[in-house]
Amino acid sequence: MSDLAAALSAAASAAFAAEGLEAGLGAVKRSDRPDLAEFQCNGAMAAAKQAGKPPRVIAEAVAERFRADPLISGLEIAGPGFLNLTVSPQAVTARARALAADARCGLPRVDAPRRVVIDYGGPNVAKPMHVGHLRTAIIGESLKRLFRARGDTVWGDAHFGDWGFQMGLLIVALEDELGDLSEPGLSARLEAMTLDDLSNAYPVAALRAKEDAVFRDRARKATAALQVGDDTNRRIWAKMKAVSMAALKRDYAALGVDFDLWNGEADADPFIADMIADLQAKGLLEVDQGAQIVRVAQETDKKELPPLLVISSEGSAMYGTTDLATVVQRRTELQPDLALYVVDQRQADHLEQVYRAAAKAGYAARESLEHIGFGTMNGTDGKPFKTRAGGVLRLSDLIADATDKARARLREAEIGADFSAEEFEDVAHKVAIAAVKFADLSNFRGTSYVFDLDRFMSFEGKTGPYLLYAAVRIKSILRKAAEQSVSPGAITVAHPAERALTLALDAIAGAAVAAYDKRSPHFLAEHAFNLAQAFSGFYAQCPILSEPDASVRASRLALADLTLRQLALTLDLLGIAAPERM
Ligand code: ARG
Repeated sequence: MSDLAAALSAAASAAFAAEGLEAGLGAVKRSDRPDLAEFQCNGAMAAAKQAGKPPRVIAEAVAERFRADPLISGLEIAGPGFLNLTVSPQAVTARARALAADARCGLPRVDAPRRVVIDYGGPNVAKPMHVGHLRTAIIGESLKRLFRARGDTVWGDAHFGDWGFQMGLLIVALEDELGDLSEPGLSARLEAMTLDDLSNAYPVAALRAKEDAVFRDRARKATAALQVGDDTNRRIWAKMKAVSMAALKRDYAALGVDFDLWNGEADADPFIADMIADLQAKGLLEVDQGAQIVRVAQETDKKELPPLLVISSEGSAMYGTTDLATVVQRRTELQPDLALYVVDQRQADHLEQVYRAAAKAGYAARESLEHIGFGTMNGTDGKPFKTRAGGVLRLSDLIADATDKARARLREAEIGADFSAEEFEDVAHKVAIAAVKFADLSNFRGTSYVFDLDRFMSFEGKTGPYLLYAAVRIKSILRKAAEQSVSPGAITVAHPAERALTLALDAIAGAAVAAYDKRSPHFLAEHAFNLAQAFSGFYAQCPILSEPDASVRASRLALADLTLRQLALTLDLLGIAAPERM
């Protein structure tokens, strides 16, 4: 379904073509200055060069052909030759009716659906999830929903870090704790193992490995032994992974983040041996100081990109090895047209190495592998966020803090005094998640932002809780209407605030396409906010249930209903759920 800008573009393009000019010059977009014009076309400026005529003359000629179009009720030529367009009232009404009749509320499908993998997990087994994992989860979940809603076949993949050096570290730490890894001590210890054991053991072992070369060397060997299939190491690994996964799944569920594939780096392991043989056969593998590498630097590089390390001198698969093997695995199992890696910007070089190696080996086209980088979530000191104690923030603690704050805010605003304890908890949780997610998604993903729960949790301004409140307010209007047996009817857009609301609703297609093309949900976040504000202006000026004229009342109710549906849809694309009341 095409929006007003598309309809206007088609009409303006026909007018340009009739003047013997390129049709593409007729592109119409929403004006950046809504106070001066609703829509605008700048084609006359570009046409002037082609036609060798002054832009104003061209604008006049195009305007002559376009002015009588029933789509528009106003056309002004401004400055050197800008066409400022006002959509006609009947076109606005028709657009509102079309949106109301559309189950997708105006969300456009892609022309050619693709198979897309989105890699947006990456938490490491036994290491606590840190804020980088929070951002990837929030952005990736939203992109997954958006791509799927637009018609692509999408797999979200968790890609757990479960095959690296940290596993070796934990194995030798366990060996030291038990004295050795013999039975029955090992089985008993594994039986009793908890997440706290792992979270406590990991930082100690990591620190020790930095200072103690012997320990580090043992951990490397343990990692290599795990990877070649040593029984004991595999058993320990499987238990540690199971303990971690249970906690990670709980955290993701609390955050409203889900994956289709709960794969880890280890799941790519069965592909590694053949891949290495293949790299070898293709002459891409080189021996360098005992390690095996693939060179990926290109002449045009401005800074030097080091080679991809495929096999370490201990014989271990590395971070890049599992990433490269995962490209092979996905090609074999899913045949994706596109893979998006939603990963911290600081891993850009690593991913570039993997992508180039994959392209060189013919595992995937370079342009089918995309790094969707994002900035850091900073503390008020401007540095990557740390807890007050200076440690990494655990996702479960972050959700708990946010939920505490949400409860306090709800009580302050005297919301939910009459709710059951269960409903109050549900609303507090939804407010907390909306606050955290919206704060993240309202910035372009590449921008770093400051984590400030107090600000995120406000019911006013550009926040998640404000949007939930807007949605809940419409729900309550619709409930009241149902109680009074008022039904939505045909929409007729008359009042300026109704018009403004319809134009805000019409913007969903542009927002969804921009978010999709730029792989940045902030366009949708912006849309949700604009829509909520337009509704607020409408509701302040246009009474609904107290409106005496029955057809106006039914029309306004239909606009409210459409607004709620589209707002809920947009929030859903952001991964945000609204409660029934608050
Ligand atoms: N486990 C990695 C980390 O914590 C992130 C993984 C990102 N995804 C990928 N395919 N490399 O840094």
